Order: sequence, then C-alpha cells, then structure tokens
Amino acid sequence: MKIQIDQARLTGELQTLAKFTDAEPVSDGTSVTRVVFSPDDLRARAWLKKLAAAEGFEIHDDAVGNIFIRWTGTEPHLPAVATGSHIDAIPHAGMYDGTVGVLGGLEAMRALKRSGLRPRRSIELVMFTSEEPTRFGIGCLGSRLISGTLDPLRADAMQDKDEATLAAVRTAAGFSGPLSSVRLPADHYHAWLELHIEQGPLLEREGTPIGIVTSIAAPAGYRFTITGFGGHAGALLMPDRKDALCAAAELILSVEKHTLATGTIDTVATVGTCDVHPGAVNSVPSRVVLQLDIRDTDPARRESVMQSVRHDCEQLRQRRNVTITEELVNADAPAQSSPHIVQLLETLCTEQGIQYKKMVSRAYHDSLFMACIAPIAMIFIPCRNGVSHRPDEYAAPGDTTLGVHLLASVLAKLALE
Ligand code: GLV
Ligand code: MN
Ligand code: MN
Repeated sequence: MKIQIDQARLTGELQTLAKFTDAEPVSDGTSVTRVVFSPDDLRARAWLKKLAAAEGFEIHDDAVGNIFIRWTGTEPHLPAVATGSHIDAIPHAGMYDGTVGVLGGLEAMRALKRSGLRPRRSIELVMFTSEEPTRFGIGCLGSRLISGTLDPLRADAMQDKDEATLAAVRTAAGFSGPLSSVRLPADHYHAWLELHIEQGPLLEREGTPIGIVTSIAAPAGYRFTITGFGGHAGALLMPDRKDALCAAAELILSVEKHTLATGTIDTVATVGTCDVHPGAVNSVPSRVVLQLDIRDTDPARRESVMQSVRHDCEQLRQRRNVTITEELVNADAPAQSSPHIVQLLETLCTEQGIQYKKMVSRAYHDSLFMACIAPIAMIFIPCRNGVSHRPDEYAAPGDTTLGVHLLASVLAKLALE
C-alpha cells in the first residue's frame, strides 16, 4: 500500500480556507479572523462539506455544529478511528492553527482511499465547533460537549459580548436540538489522532520534523470583575478615586509575579483581555473585567499560583477599597496520550526514517477532551519561529505533507486493528 499525499492540492485548500476571514489583509502574513458561527465560519463549513461530499464521504452535524465526515469501513459496527481539529480562528490569527488537522485529515483519508486501502473500521474526520474561546469565553466547546465535560444547560446559557446566548446563536446558524445529544459514549471511537502545528519553537530549533505528543498541559480560565468608583477625569479628586483599572494593573502584575515564582517554564499565565468601563479617555475607570488564562502540566501548582493571586486580591481590596469578584470559567485536568498509539507512531517514524521528538503540548486542543472518551495521541509539525496566533504563523508544505503522511499511516494501521 503506497500512501501519496497531494501536497499541491492541500496547500491550495489551506490557502482557500484562509480567504474565509473577517480580518483586513496585512503585509506580514495572512491574517485570519474566523469566529464561531460568524458568516465566514459558516461559509468555510459549507465549503469543507462540499470537499468531503465530492469524495463520497458521509457527512452529518450535531446540535452544536460539530461536523462528522465518515468513510465507512467494511465492519461499520466497530468503533471508528477518528481524527480532526478546528477551523475557527482567534482575531488576527494565522492560517495553520487547527486547519492543518482538518484539511490534513481530509487529505489523509483521500490518500488512503487512493492507495486502495479497505479499512475494517470506519475512519472519521471531526471538525469541532469553537475550539477557540473568542466568542463565548471558553475553548473546546464542541469537544467538551462530546466528552460530557461541560453541562449542556450551562453551555446553552453562555453569552457572547452582545449578550446573545449560545442557544440563540447556534439555532440561527442552523443547529438545533438539545445539547445533551452531542455527548458520545466512552467506547464510541477506537482511537483518536490530531495533527497540529507545534505553536512553539522546539521542533524547528532542533531541526526535528515530527513531534509525538505524550501529554497535554492543563488549562484553566477565570474572569475577574473589579469595581471601584469613577467619574470625571478632571474633577474627581485623586484621593476620592477608586480607579478600577489601577487595581486591575496590580492584579495582572500579581499573576505574572506568582507565575514566574514557580521557577518552571511549565507554568504560564496570561491576562489577554481587559474591558474598561466606561472606556473614555476623560473618565476614571469604574469597572474592569479581566480574562485570565493559566496553564500548567501540574494542576496542583496551577492552583497554588491562583491561591497566591487570591491573597494579593484580598490586600488589593483593602488597600484600594474596590470589590473584586472571581468567576471560574474552566479548570481542566491534563491528558495523557495512549502508550499504544504513541508506540505505533514511534514504530512508523523509525520504519520510515523520520526523526521525531516525544513532547508535551503546552497549547490545549480538542484532544484534551477527546482523551476522556478515547485513546488519543497528537502529531506536531514545526512552525516557523514557533509563532502562532499571529498572521505570520507558517508551516512549510513539506513539513505539513510529512505530518499528513504519518497521520494517514497510523490511521490505516488503527483502522485494520
Ligand atoms: C488553543 O488555541 C490554545 O489557546 O491553546
Ligand atoms: Mn488556537
Ligand atoms: Mn488549534
């Protein structure tokens, strides 16, 4: 069986997908903004389904808009082997994050079909809804619901910045029915694989073309609301102010200080949004909402950073006379890859003379949640300068092809088990 990846076609499809974007063109790369259920996201989904339909694969969506593209095996009652990723993109992102796993997964299936493989187990490609947290503040919406990690009623009540609920937004996008129907049983898949760009610098720095992910670090998200006392920027006297943004600045620095104090590169924390009310240059900020993203390979250490931040918040409340409320968005456990799938990948790399590195994924992925219902592993490919979530994100076609080839090879083995 000879697997041949159509590199020119895949490169062209990645470029076409990048055209479904809300972002203005930039000079330093390809800027992609594709927020879940935006017109561009919906157009991209329709285009993807057309590609899959042209191959004769079966297609269906679930109530949250996850798309399933299935190549039925000769023993269709057996749990399928699955792969996939996401096509939504954060504001001003690049064109490879997630898309390589979706279009690469599709090309892997097409290549296996061309090779003459007759899979015993069905092979399924999944495109997840809202891996990115942009719209509803929580990432991996589709895979959380598939794995039963997110309460369906809580999910439907979540609101975007315009106070539209997920229930309303998904219905308007054409996805209805109870979210409880999205959940899949633990034995639904025989195995799960995700191909993704590394989003970090290690593979490129070491000149290694393939990363085999052995675990995924544990993310958590919090929302802090700081309320003080604002007013006229000229007339409100300095001693009478309770500037919520000044308090927020101290909170942000507290997060940085305690994260650095762990002394390990495995703890990372980011305050990536800051909504200032009323947001006028001549008005003292009265309310600020911050979103904190904190991750660690060790969830206990992540929690100890949060405890130190809470201690600082208590002092801030007293010293600045502000109120600070903390809301937990998510606190997830890390995931481990299946030793069996990792071993298969290692054997394939060795047989094919491909250098590889076993590594931790510091970014989160839908695989974190698929690990709750299936044995998983991930394949990483290098990205230029380790850059991601930016328009200059880039993965070389040759590296992408190698990743897709390895993905196809392991899917073929698993589909015959
Ligand atoms: C996924 O996009 C992440 O933020 O890790
Ligand atoms: Mn991303
Ligand atoms: Mn991604």
